[in-house]
Order: sequence, then C-alpha cells, then structure tokens
Amino acid sequence: MIKGLLFDLDGVIVDTAKYHYLAWKQIADELKIDFKLKDNELLKGVSRERSFEIILELGDRKMSREERNEYCRRKNIIYLEYINKMTEEEILPGVNEFISDAKKNAYKVALGSASKNASIILTKIKLKDPFDAIIDGEKVSEAKPNPEVFTKCACALGLKNEECIVFEDSAAGIQAAHNANMLAVGIGTKENLPKADMHLYEFEGINVQKLIDILGENPEADTI
Ligand code: BG6
Ligand code: MG
Repeated sequence: MIKGLLFDLDGVIVDTAKYHYLAWKQIADELKIDFKLKDNELLKGVSRERSFEIILELGDRKMSREERNEYCRRKNIIYLEYINKMTEEEILPGVNEFISDAKKNAYKVALGSASKNASIILTKIKLKDPFDAIIDGEKVSEAKPNPEVFTKCACALGLKNEECIVFEDSAAGIQAAHNANMLAVGIGTKENLPKADMHLYEFEGINVQKLIDILGENPEADTI
C-alpha cells in the first residue's frame, strides 16, 4: 500500500535545469568547450562533480581533482545568482495543488534531491513547510542512480521503501527509485524516460488518489 510520495526537486518542482545550463555554459565557454543545450540533458539528476566531469569528457579534457573542485565552486556561485532571484512564481504548474491534495489524503511527502542548493531553492519558492522530510545533496554520499536518497526519504518518513512512489524527471532518478524497490512516475515523455512506470507531462489537474490507483492496478499504465 502506498503511503509516501517522494519528489525530486530540479525538473519536477521547479525548472532549474535552465539555470544549471546557463552557469555551466559560462564555465564551458571559458574553457572553450562546446557545450550545447542538448548536452545539458546528460547532466539531469547527476551530481555537480559528475556534471563537470561529463563537460570535460565532451571537450576531451582532463583536470586534477583540485582544479575540478575549483570550477565546480565557481559554477555554483554563478548558479546561485540565478537561484537567489527565484520566487514562488517559478513553482511548476499544479505542484502546490498536488502536494496539498496528497497531504489532505494523509500521504506523507518528502523531497529527495541530489542538489546541495535544495534548501535555498525551497526557501526562495516558499515550499519548505509541506515536506515531512527533506533529503538533499548535503545528506547523501552516493549520487543517483544509487538508491540512497530515496531510501533515506522512506526512513525519515518511517515507511518501508515499497510503500513510497517517486516523481522524477531524470533517467538516473528513475533508476534510483527502482533500485530502492519503489515505483517511479516520470515527469516527461516515454521517449525521454522509457523506464518510468507511468508518465506525467505536468501535475496540473492530476488527482493524487486516481494516480496512485492507476499505478497500483497497472504499473504499465501509460501517460495520464
Ligand atoms: C540535480 C540536478 O537535481 O542536482 C543536476 O538535476 C545537478 O543537474 C544536481 O547537477 C546537483 O545540484 P547542485 O545544486 O548541488 O549543484
Ligand atoms: Mg531532476
């Protein structure tokens, strides 16, 4: 029986991928590495450190760990300039209503994000209070697709892994949910997230109980 809903942050609650892209683009330009918007897909759900390694791989470049750390630090300063301007207007359509609906129906709700900036973002968009637990990049040591972040969410909610479902926009996150023995709802298309158990384009107009019933009865259910 499903008792908990676990939400990724970037790409599920807010569209911060564009800010990650702009910040990485600035770093890549400086290093004269050709980094395009389509390459940004590779960075979704992936840790900051791994993101930079992927960018270096795209440019066929190598760097010492110290240098990589310095670029990651600088990228985050640029990223924070965008994040600091965020407001609740940037919460994706239907997210507030969906979470309220979940809480009214006595589901527990947690945030499970790879981001070390999750707390700042939730403060900026005024969305900390509804979460019964927040597990972010500061609290995990293994990146998705390792299940650690979602296993810690379930534990913090006092639930078993299989009592939770995950909402994710990245392939690494869907895999992390499955590795934790949880069903995963992909926020995106079947083409982008072929392994998700169900797909949603967005939360607008989605009824929590209906979604859980469909997922429970038919885990192969298509986009609703
Ligand atoms: C994930 C994003 O949520 O967080 C990734 O999808 C990002 O693109 C990762 O690299 C780490 O984020 P941050 O904010 O700690 O640099
Ligand atoms: Mg995401």
